[in-house]
Amino acid sequence: MRSDSPHSFPCRILSARPSDVDRGVHDLSRDMDPNLVYVFLDKLQRYAAKPDRALFFAESAGKIIGFATIIERAEVPLTMAETAANLLQEYACGTGLMVLPEYRRRGVARILVQRWEEWAQACGRQGVWIVTRQMAEWYQRYFHYVVLGTTVRHGVEKTVLAGSLVQASAP
Ligand SMILES: CC(C)(COP(=O)(O)OP(=O)(O)OC[C@H]1O[C@@H](n2cnc3c(N)ncnc32)[C@H](O)[C@@H]1OP(=O)(O)O)[C@@H](O)C(=O)NCCC(=O)NCCS
Repeated sequence: MRSDSPHSFPCRILSARPSDVDRGVHDLSRDMDPNLVYVFLDKLQRYAAKPDRALFFAESAGKIIGFATIIERAEVPLTMAETAANLLQEYACGTGLMVLPEYRRRGVARILVQRWEEWAQACGRQGVWIVTRQMAEWYQRYFHYVVLGTTVRHGVEKTVLAGSLVQASAP
């Protein structure tokens, strides 16, 4: 399926299968610490293979230029207040989003986030939540996600945000 809007860079979004993963990792791991490439490959293989999760690749001119991963249900951080935790139980969780540096600021991530949301909706989930260290303002500004709390992962404080797919409900 082609997913370009009038303002976005022309790219195709693939719902990746296990046979697509090696090519994606090859194109995306170019600047990655070699010790982390196996971990990345393992993660993408799981997301492409398991029925409760999805891996999307953005492709342009035959090259994979970005990816997004999402899971139907993820463990909610224990630090969340009860109301927020109950809400997140109903949401899918976006667990990875990256666009190669030379393709940034052209709307590719916007299309990938839209695919997260379409996938979550198709699974009957009521929204999408994410955990991020540095991009909380970006999710708020461009996607109207709402900060629900913080969590500490590997000693680093991160922000938990969520966006609802249900009209006129908060967040
Ligand atoms: C964050 C990231 C995914 C954005 O990808 P992208 O394809 O450049 O994003 P888009 O072009 O779709 O951006 C959507 C809007 O955000 C803006 N934007 C993009 N990156 C931004 C940034 N770092 N700071 C502020 N605004 C930014 C764009 O200009 C665009 O606004 P516009 O529609 O008014 O022009 C990309 O920079 C990236 O891969 N970063 C490293 C990994 C990362 O941080 N992932 C997310 C962590 S959870």
